[in-house]
Amino acid sequence: MRQILFVLIAVEILASVVAYTAHASEQTSDQLAPSSTITMSPGYRDWRLISVAREGGKLDDLRAILGNDVAFNAAQKGTLPYPDGSIIARVAWNYEALPVIAIGSEQLQPYVAGAPKNGVQFMVKESKKYASTGGWGFAQFNPGNPKNVAMAGTCYACHTLVKSRDFVFNSYAP
Ligand code: HEC
Repeated sequence: MRQILFVLIAVEILASVVAYTAHASEQTSDQLAPSSTITMSPGYRDWRLISVAREGGKLDDLRAILGNDVAFNAAQKGTLPYPDGSIIARVAWNYEALPVIAIGSEQLQPYVAGAPKNGVQFMVKESKKYASTGGWGFAQFNPGNPKNVAMAGTCYACHTLVKSRDFVFNSYAP
């Protein structure tokens, strides 16, 4: 059942990306272009933990989903839509295997976070300013580059899969 669900989600994501690509020419350039007004949120690494995630496939990483106070409080209460001022950060690290530990006949394979990977992403809620992408501004920062490189239209196209959850895949992990 779980596998079937995963396959369904994968197919949906693929379909959405294909549909998006087909309609890319209809998107306004504003919606596609990285928003220059989104800068790296200072102190995001100290924000509270909303959830953790593991991305397989090409991305192959371990991730933490962090929220500023507005986003964290909304996530914890399950408030939807997220209020303006919410910022959600996604940080990711290499999925690193430590040497196997043998305890008697048992073998343990520990995994820990290694080096940072796949940049840092943000979703910034300002419902009027980012009305064309569900009220969220999307940002991606790669190492050594202080500029947002996210193509908001591409991010938004996939995040519409969870439109009913205000475009946010993760929910608060109790
Ligand atoms: C092909 C689909 C897809 C695309 C494209 C995509 N995302 Fe996501 N995003 C996801 C999925 C699935 C998750 C939940 C799993 C995880 O945390 O990795 C997620 C999680 C996130 C989160 C944590 C909040 C949440 O929704 O759970 C942020 C922030 C985020 N993405 C930002 C971005 C940005 C910025 C871009 C564009 C540069 C982007 N995403 C493009 C699928 C996508």
